[in-house]
Amino acid sequence: MKKALLFYMILMSISCQKSSPDHVTPKTTTTSNGMQLDYEKRIDSLLNLMTLEEKIGQMNQYSGFWDATGPSPKAGEDADSKYKDLKKGLVGSMLNVKGVAQIKALQKIAVEDTRLGIPLIFGYDVIHGFKTTGPIPLAESASWDLETIKKSAENAAEETAASGINWTFAPMVDISRDARWGRVMEGAGEDPYLGSKIGVARVQGFQGDDLSSPKTIAACAKHFAAYGFAEAGREYNTADIGTSTLYNIVFPPFKAVTDAGVRTFMNAFNLVNDIPATGNVFLQRDVLKRDWGFNGFIVSDWGSIGEMTTHGYTNSDKQAAELAVKAGSDMDMESSAYVKELAQLVKEGKVEEALIDDAARRILRVKFELGLFEDPYRYCDADYEKTVVGEKSFHDDALDMAKKSIVLLKNENNLLPLKKEGQKIALIGALANDKTSPLGNWRIAADDGSAVSVIEGLNAYSGNTLTYAKGADVLTLDSKLSFVHEVTINETDKSGFSEAVSVAKTSDVVVMVLGEHGLQSGEGRSRTQIDLPGVQQSLLEEIYKVNQNIVLVLTNGRPLAIPWAAEHIPAIVEAWHLGVQSGNAIAQVLYGDYNPSGKLPMTFPKNVGQVPIFYNNKSTGRPDGETNDVVFWSHYIDESNAPLYPFGYGLSYTSFAYKNLTTRKTAARHITVTVELTNTGQVKGKEVVQLYIHDKYASTVRPVKELKGFELVALEPQETKTITFELTEAELGFYTGQGEYIIEPGEFDVFVGGDSNAKLSTTFSLD
Ligand code: NOJ
Repeated sequence: MKKALLFYMILMSISCQKSSPDHVTPKTTTTSNGMQLDYEKRIDSLLNLMTLEEKIGQMNQYSGFWDATGPSPKAGEDADSKYKDLKKGLVGSMLNVKGVAQIKALQKIAVEDTRLGIPLIFGYDVIHGFKTTGPIPLAESASWDLETIKKSAENAAEETAASGINWTFAPMVDISRDARWGRVMEGAGEDPYLGSKIGVARVQGFQGDDLSSPKTIAACAKHFAAYGFAEAGREYNTADIGTSTLYNIVFPPFKAVTDAGVRTFMNAFNLVNDIPATGNVFLQRDVLKRDWGFNGFIVSDWGSIGEMTTHGYTNSDKQAAELAVKAGSDMDMESSAYVKELAQLVKEGKVEEALIDDAARRILRVKFELGLFEDPYRYCDADYEKTVVGEKSFHDDALDMAKKSIVLLKNENNLLPLKKEGQKIALIGALANDKTSPLGNWRIAADDGSAVSVIEGLNAYSGNTLTYAKGADVLTLDSKLSFVHEVTINETDKSGFSEAVSVAKTSDVVVMVLGEHGLQSGEGRSRTQIDLPGVQQSLLEEIYKVNQNIVLVLTNGRPLAIPWAAEHIPAIVEAWHLGVQSGNAIAQVLYGDYNPSGKLPMTFPKNVGQVPIFYNNKSTGRPDGETNDVVFWSHYIDESNAPLYPFGYGLSYTSFAYKNLTTRKTAARHITVTVELTNTGQVKGKEVVQLYIHDKYASTVRPVKELKGFELVALEPQETKTITFELTEAELGFYTGQGEYIIEPGEFDVFVGGDSNAKLSTTFSLD
């Protein structure tokens, strides 16, 4: 039968009826003419028409690295066989294809050349913006500003969709406590409460209310699960954590985004309890699909089905395909194990066809929701693409997000903000003159050199005399600045020091931009040292000898250990990798046009030896020793236990005072907490008011503090506001190691303040 005719039949098999929407598992959608379409019936019809191989084809995802608009394929044998599979209807999805022209060409093959004409879903790593790159996710998280974060995802979705793509592999909601792990830049930091709120904001931003809108794309919660707990912070390493940590720390953001309707999940490269996440029945079938009722689909991570054999869990692609599909991995990213092995496994009776039907159904469901069956080219309008991609409003919003992401770490004697006129300013550091590094990692659709550098940003404030000296390169000049290649650090070349020293000597203020290059964090970029890379620390010390009036602007994708700078340098600004508008945002903060309000989403250690270090630890039986000459307490003999900067920390150009903390029991399991916040300084500012609780005695030991509420509050000078928090069952309980959520009676401490060291406290009890 002709494919076009079959496609028509599928469309005609729609039954139009009213049914109630379900926010987790939408079975229907409302079309522009008001009809509600019952997808499940359409999927039934479609599955009935499909051969086993075609159903498995839906579960197969290939990376599109050939030029689909030229004579295709172009990339050799591998591409050739992928192309043939595509023509046979054995591919359900592609990743790494971008731009309407390419996507339309591939979609055309799927829709017009295959027997059933089922459209492809196109996935892409839209991690912090598409072409218009915003701050890295860790930086955005430092804003604690859920509305702005949502807006940033909304813009990314609009720009991405205009480019033909309908699915992002984001948000990464992996909690991590280990700054050595390069991928902390991609998440929301160390805390499950903050991570859940931010994960939900991002999913809502990407997906909106209507997945079939041409401005929204499907989101993907990744990497399920515990990838952020890679041992020793080494990329792809085993995670070995107890079930209490799994349920209370790792799972909450995944659960929250599931409840918010995220349509896809990605599993992970690591082992969890000695089973690869990709082949893990407990994670995928038991927790995600059964307990949480997730009805979207799970894509494997890149090649992770095949890697189960490298782990030593399976002995072949065939066994890997069998165990992965049984465990609930629905789509195979780039292992080719499903497309090669599953049909035979079904024929041999090793895999039930019902499992294939279920996986194909889940994938088709998301395609229906995206509106791809109504118009497979709905994301493919080249004129629209031209007007939307890189639009000015995206840049304006990226600047807004970037400003809000900056964290002021130190500001002795109010060195900041800088005066706008009459100053001689030395600007030092290769990163100050870099238009690519600020884009950070995972910006694969952005153009190199598309960021506003710090020098350009500061020059826009031209009242001062600005003299730039590089001082030293961060990376060696022959480093390949690409997503896939190793970079090498400049450990030796100090030839630019003397020029920088002489410029610093004659300046009123020195602004030094130091830290990590954008390609020193991200996937595959773990570090054992988390200080200023290369010769930058010694550059900083050399400059300090001649001019102590230093503003240190840090750019980095992870917490850094910079104890010397924290002690000696009067002003420190954490500027992460802030995306295209980086230099403008930094300039506005340094000159006080924007009063910083960011707070750290991850603890900064004094020393890498303290890692993993995080605020919500458990008390040992021997905490804080009082005497120095007895060693039998939980400590190091060469470093204190305290972090350099705690979770939640960040200063402002104004100051805030907290007082009158009250608690009131409004119901048996409902506590209302109020606190008064006053802006005690001279300028208006915003403060992230944070509430932490401590369940003092419980059947399993609870953390010394847990974030359970926060609010971003704007105050004029001398203004006071009363902030109210509601602690309900959702905040007062915890998971047992068996995954049961319980609330126990007893006494709780509650702390409110501007960081996780908040001292203002009171207590309440639950009966
Ligand atoms: C591997 C990464 O772990 C994952 O996060 C990403 O989405 C895929 N590659 C696809 O690029």
